[in-house]
Amino acid sequence: MPDLSYEINRRRTFAIISHPDAGKTTLTEKLLLYGGAIQLAGSVKGKASARHAVSDWMELEKQRGISITSSVMQFEYNGYCINILDTPGHQDFSEDTYRTLMAADSAVMVIDAAKGIEPQTRKLFKICAMRHIPIFTFINKLDREARSPYDLLEELEKEFGIGTYPMNWPIGCGREFKGVYDREKREILAFQEFHSGQNRISSVEVELSDTALLDELIGPRLRQTLEDDVELVDGAGYEFDLEAVRSGLLSPVFFGSALNNFGVERFLQCFLEMTVPPLPRESGGEPVDPLTNGFSAFVFKIQANMNKAHRDRIAFMRICSGRFEREREYFHVQEGKALRLSQPQQLMASDRAIIDEAYAGDIIGVFDPGIFSIGDTVCEKNAQIRYAGIPSFAPEHFASVERIDTMKRKQFEKGITQIAQEGAIQIFHEPHTGVEEVLVGVVGVLQFEVLEYRLKTEYGVDVRRRTLPYEQIRWIASEQSDIGALNLTSDTRWVQDFRGNNLLLFTSSWCVDWALQKNPGLELREFNRND
Ligand code: G4P
Repeated sequence: MPDLSYEINRRRTFAIISHPDAGKTTLTEKLLLYGGAIQLAGSVKGKASARHAVSDWMELEKQRGISITSSVMQFEYNGYCINILDTPGHQDFSEDTYRTLMAADSAVMVIDAAKGIEPQTRKLFKICAMRHIPIFTFINKLDREARSPYDLLEELEKEFGIGTYPMNWPIGCGREFKGVYDREKREILAFQEFHSGQNRISSVEVELSDTALLDELIGPRLRQTLEDDVELVDGAGYEFDLEAVRSGLLSPVFFGSALNNFGVERFLQCFLEMTVPPLPRESGGEPVDPLTNGFSAFVFKIQANMNKAHRDRIAFMRICSGRFEREREYFHVQEGKALRLSQPQQLMASDRAIIDEAYAGDIIGVFDPGIFSIGDTVCEKNAQIRYAGIPSFAPEHFASVERIDTMKRKQFEKGITQIAQEGAIQIFHEPHTGVEEVLVGVVGVLQFEVLEYRLKTEYGVDVRRRTLPYEQIRWIASEQSDIGALNLTSDTRWVQDFRGNNLLLFTSSWCVDWALQKNPGLELREFNRND
């Protein structure tokens, strides 16, 4: 049997985050290429309708051309075993993305060199910063007109409050893009024109001291600018500090062009050396060592009916310690029951492979007969591990949803409950009422459309949706003996989530303040911890 510490220490599990269109899909595909995980080079989301990114799954996302769900890809490179967690870039799916970030040990942030930080980058960065995970920055599309590298770095530092360390420095951009200067190797990776359809690294390496060759390659003017830039960056920038990188305080920055496969392999090599292997995670305030605690994992994502041919529900688990073995019996902490995880799989987009073993750092998908919820822990019997729950983020849009066909009550209940268990939507009921009408809260409005689409295609239920005016949601954190007697504005609504927790829906933050002022002792919380 393979050595446990060897296997765990060679694992690298990270998420790629970006604002839509910055180049996340393109970079992911190039990385996969180095692992030999896919054969197809070149454009990912081609104009031809038949070509889709390997990480695209559902019919709906194909129609819309956006990634709704997150997928996981594993590949080997230079002795490392790499797990990439793809995250949906569309802002409406941010909650799923947040959860995926909980399963990653580090993050790669892709930024469009012409645009710099964009809204979605900002949101995702915050979650990474909250967890203090290492964040690597790939500034993409240098083959197009770009903002000044100084500007881009300053923006990252100012907005995110982190240090940046450019690992390389761009020479020109757009039509004038000549390549990058590698600060560690002290040599130039010259950009060569990339011919579409070719799958080779478009670069040559040149020493900085080779002035004659440099003048030939990039011209005397750009050579001079480069020399000045290098002097300035060496003199005025941050010192490289691996500890600061590993605690998320300093972000190594790489300039390149994913589409041209330029600077990607070097980025991958540096990233793998600098980032962290699976680190201990906390259970009850105590770290759980990945090496000495036997198997443990937590569920960070549940997805139903991923593949029409399978009609199933998959729970995605991040393994936090030990080795997973297919035939062994484990313990589902929240249910208090022993179980065997059936059909354990690793996923490569829609291709699945049944696996016999997996290690801390890996993500496995297991068949879920409807027993798992987001945040659940699975571990060895008697291990006494319970990972902290994944917070559910406050929905920002609300609607009431009811079925049109009165005969379809069962399907409606099943569908809406399952979709809520997956965490795609949150559902609420007025206390003491049935499920004729369900209040649905989502982080992004597109999720309403996904809900309707899925209820129709997967459960055969047509629904009617009415948008509700609520904007703020608060869980009641204090002990309240009589919630009905609280002094609230007339448009505030008392509801319960599917665990029976009490919440208030408000139409404005003014109403939240009113509630707090008029009801001394009332405590409200913005999100539920789900422990
Ligand atoms: P995303 O996943 O972050 O949303 O971005 P994606 O990789 O899909 O890239 C968005 C667009 O940017 C794509 O163009 C892609 O080809 C392009 N792109 C990615 N990296 C680079 C780069 O380094 N240089 C240049 N010039 N373009 C890049 P598209 O027009 O949407 O698709 P396509 O028609 O080109 O296939």
